[in-house]
Amino acid sequence: MLTRMLPSVVEACEARFDLVKLWEADDPDALLQARGGEVLGVATNGQLPVDDALLDKLPKLQIVAHFGVGYDSVDTDATRARGVVVTNTPDVLDAEVADTAMGLLLMTVRELGAAERYLRAGRWATEGAYRLTPHTIAGRTLGIAGLGRIGLEIAKRAEPFGLQIEYHNRRRRDDVPFPYHPSLVELAAAVDTLMIVLPGGASTHHVVDADVLAALGPDGILINIGRGSVVDTDALIAALENGTIAGAGLDVYETEPRVPQALIDIENAVLLPHVGSASVATRRAMGQLVTDNLISWFESGSAVTPVP
Ligand code: NAP
Ligand code: 8YV
Repeated sequence: MLTRMLPSVVEACEARFDLVKLWEADDPDALLQARGGEVLGVATNGQLPVDDALLDKLPKLQIVAHFGVGYDSVDTDATRARGVVVTNTPDVLDAEVADTAMGLLLMTVRELGAAERYLRAGRWATEGAYRLTPHTIAGRTLGIAGLGRIGLEIAKRAEPFGLQIEYHNRRRRDDVPFPYHPSLVELAAAVDTLMIVLPGGASTHHVVDADVLAALGPDGILINIGRGSVVDTDALIAALENGTIAGAGLDVYETEPRVPQALIDIENAVLLPHVGSASVATRRAMGQLVTDNLISWFESGSAVTPVP
């Protein structure tokens, strides 16, 4: 286990395997040198990269069980080349993340965080009511970039709020009625609210750039519940400061857990600390899937949720 994971995962792995706890080692390199040759499986939550440098130290490795559906911390070219299976934790977190995405959208459009800060600062009693928000939810068009498992759950929640849905994926889906846009900039131009649910990695790096933000426009709201690396943070800060877009709600950041001060200083940004799936029940279900994958692999030679 590369980093400290949920107690339920640690306990389940300890009960079943000889568990090497890398995070407890004073000298992780020395521990890897001493025991890396015995390691058959890795459990990780994505905080440390699984790359050639690590894989070189684990010559007998068969499986990487990743806690989280987004496994961009794993170099899958490197694991594929070595015949190492990678698993993730899809499906069990879809509803939680979609709920969080909707909360973030409502907070951003209706300035709920700023309104709460206003009350807590005692300003309601002294200065009067919080301002009427220039933006409202009904009538907005929601562009979903990444209409996959979580994106579909967001669409299901957004429709009853009166939002029109359009989307962008690399491939058009034949099981949804929503208008499809083959490029992200076209989607951004067609909508006033852009929800990013894309995975991280090279193919999506900084795809939300200055052009996409300009296309979204001055009434535009950007929500990012996918990965921080998808958004060019400097371009976003400039767009928020210049009024190129109206506001942004972010759960994920390029440099998390560090968030640029410029973003923190911007009033029209709602900033959550990567809490999309962060309830006890959902994290437990994700942890269960990590251990189920490892146990299934070592008992039957097949994983429960291998990534493609
Ligand atoms: P998913 O079912 O695989 O959906 C991903 C969607 O993105 C698919 O529709 C895919 O369609 C599209 N896509 C992938 N690469 C693309 C590209 N280069 N350009 C355009 N579209 C692309 O994954 P999911 O389970 O919904 O999870 C999505 C992501 O959400 C995860 O990878 C993770 O990064 C993030 N996430 C965040 C949190 C949080 O706490 N904030 C929690 C869970 C997940 P095509 O294959 O047709 O392109
Ligand atoms: C987790 C996530 O917080 O599943 C994902 O891709 O981003 C979140 O659910 C994270 O992966 C846990 O480390």
